[in-house]
Amino acid sequence: MTALTKTTIRVNIPQDAYDIRIAPGGLDYLGPWLAAEGNPLIKPGQKVLVVSNPVVFELYGERAITSLTQAGYQVCHCILPAGESYKTLASIEKIHDVAYENRLERSSAMVALGGGVIGDMTGFAAATWLRGIAVVQVPTSLLAMVDASMGGKTGVNHPRGKNLIGAFHQPKLVLIDPKVLETLPVREFRAGVAEVIKYGVIWDLPLFERLEAAERLDDFTQVSHELLQTMLNHSCQAKADVVSQDVREAGIRAILNYGHTVGHAIESLTGYSEINHGEAVAIGMVVAGEIAVALNLEPVTDGTWDESAAQRQKALIEKAQLPTRLPTDISIDDILRALKSDKKVQSGRVRFVLPGSIGTAFVTDQVSNESVRRVLNACRAF
Ligand code: GLY
Repeated sequence: MTALTKTTIRVNIPQDAYDIRIAPGGLDYLGPWLAAEGNPLIKPGQKVLVVSNPVVFELYGERAITSLTQAGYQVCHCILPAGESYKTLASIEKIHDVAYENRLERSSAMVALGGGVIGDMTGFAAATWLRGIAVVQVPTSLLAMVDASMGGKTGVNHPRGKNLIGAFHQPKLVLIDPKVLETLPVREFRAGVAEVIKYGVIWDLPLFERLEAAERLDDFTQVSHELLQTMLNHSCQAKADVVSQDVREAGIRAILNYGHTVGHAIESLTGYSEINHGEAVAIGMVVAGEIAVALNLEPVTDGTWDESAAQRQKALIEKAQLPTRLPTDISIDDILRALKSDKKVQSGRVRFVLPGSIGTAFVTDQVSNESVRRVLNACRAF
């Protein structure tokens, strides 16, 4: 194999530290990197269960399995249907059935080869099999690369709400091979860009400015190698920085939910199919940006968040061809009701993540129902 360029970002969680490795062509190194001579992440000879969906497995399953087999692992696989509607306990049972049939042991591992849904489910199946075995994340969508694969949040949906069932379970390694994005549908690519914009707004002003300087953000084939590398490196570094400070979301980690409060409400009210996660987060960021403007807050940092910052955020979202308006077929009352059942509600108060300036964010439960209603109405109009 030829040498390849790679960037390694360390997620410094006490007792659970791991690397995010970003390397074009890295998929072929999955086995060797896990087997790492002298200090293996998973001991060669162990059983490894690869979990994927039919589309991703068809494209990349063989390469992943060959790499693992050649490194000395005993490999089996479990293919689950694609889509958020399959992110259920029934799918976890299917993974556990395969784990049982293949006698996976405490020293075995699971590999998630797919997008966020596969990553979340594989992580949860690994967290619960024999009270916890190793998991390795190999994200194949931009959204999973920059968010879902890192930080150890795993789980499935409950019929009444998204991600209500789950566990924190950190991976042993996150392997990001940007070349697999070549086969990602354009709508999925844009969904991932929504999360990249999120990091620019909440954490990383230089990333935000680099995205502003880009000619296009809506199509993988129009994004330069350098820009893609910046998007991946900065997003992963931002997530690693935040998660390392607050693994279990007792404080600062909550800012990663920017755009997600209203986003989750939109997803659940549209049945997790009409609008994808990234699109819902994009709309949620516009709403949060407008709430922050409406609150007319005192500057919390060097900068401030005003109408012009909200417009700059909206311009980036539009550049990625992501939606900025609330869908007209869901009522404001339904959104307000859904906000109240979000798992981030504390003592009955909805907690919003709001930008303090471009590059900073904070959490507040001091947004009145009336302000939210006014902004939601306005976000339908423009
Ligand atoms: N996706 C938000 C988090 O990992 O905390």
